[in-house]
Amino acid sequence: MKTVTLHDGRKIPALGQGTWQMGETAAKAETEIAVLRAGIERGMTLIDTAEMYAGGGAERIVARAIEGQRERVFLVSKVSPQNASAAGIAKSCAASLKRLGTDHLDLYLLHWPGRHPLEETVAAFERLRAAGTIRYWGVSNFDVDLMAELAALPQGARCATDQILYHPDERGPEFDLLPWCRNHKMPIMAYSPLGQGGRLLRSPALAAIARRHRATPGQIAIAWSLRDGNTITIPKTATPERVPENADAANIALTPDDLAEIEATHPPPRRKTRLGML
Ligand SMILES: NC(=O)c1ccc[n+]([C@@H]2O[C@H](COP(=O)([O-])OP(=O)(O)OC[C@H]3O[C@@H](n4cnc5c(N)ncnc54)[C@H](OP(=O)(O)O)[C@@H]3O)[C@@H](O)[C@H]2O)c1
Repeated sequence: MKTVTLHDGRKIPALGQGTWQMGETAAKAETEIAVLRAGIERGMTLIDTAEMYAGGGAERIVARAIEGQRERVFLVSKVSPQNASAAGIAKSCAASLKRLGTDHLDLYLLHWPGRHPLEETVAAFERLRAAGTIRYWGVSNFDVDLMAELAALPQGARCATDQILYHPDERGPEFDLLPWCRNHKMPIMAYSPLGQGGRLLRSPALAAIARRHRATPGQIAIAWSLRDGNTITIPKTATPERVPENADAANIALTPDDLAEIEATHPPPRRKTRLGML
């Protein structure tokens, strides 16, 4: 599996698995667990979840998927911003760990910016890190101005990643946020890399490139998000047949011509645009 490098030199998988909309109905639970397990077998050992997803239901699905193989997995969860106070983070983290059936998270993210002072949130993350309850912490949906604010705080430079909306139709971060992260030796984590399975996957450019690689448009979107070596990408599927498809996308090397074709149809903005968010 391709890897990206964190600020301390640790290498983690570049291709992982999302879990949004998992754990919502009991009828789908066994399939969702099987999908995540099959993904782990194929090297997609980074799993992204959140306390918010299905009100904790997604974390419970992940718990069953990683049971007996916790150490193989790089486990990511998120605290909701309303819980990102000193006391709130400790409580949310403990509840996530309980639902996940583990004693530590590999990465804990602030889901999006909220009303609690960032300094308080960072200090709370650092206490969890010092206690060994989390290995790394980071943020999500932070635009470049907030990243600069964060980096200036005590221990703010320990932020491991920013999880952001990023795919060929959402290229705003390329203008300033991606260069900022690269300069700060920080990988980004691309969410919704398949454009949520919607319009993006009907792109004629992706279809044409997919035909040349004997691949699918979804695979080309995943390969595109992995192209710079500084991006972790977390497509979500709950469809068993799509697990090998998505995992194999890590082996597709897009050519300069492929990238130019995507550039022509899905150009990045030429000026600053606000970071998109779902
Ligand atoms: N931090 C945040 O604010 C935030 C926001 C959104 C998402 N996320 C994280 O990022 C993960 C991924 O984003 P996402 O779930 O929004 O969207 P996504 O991964 O871009 O797309 C998921 C959709 O695409 C379909 N799909 C999966 N593989 C496919 C393939 N090979 N070909 C065609 N369709 C395919 C899935 O359907 P099936 O499931 O039916 O296969 C699902 O409907 C989430 O699950 C979550 O963990 C974070």
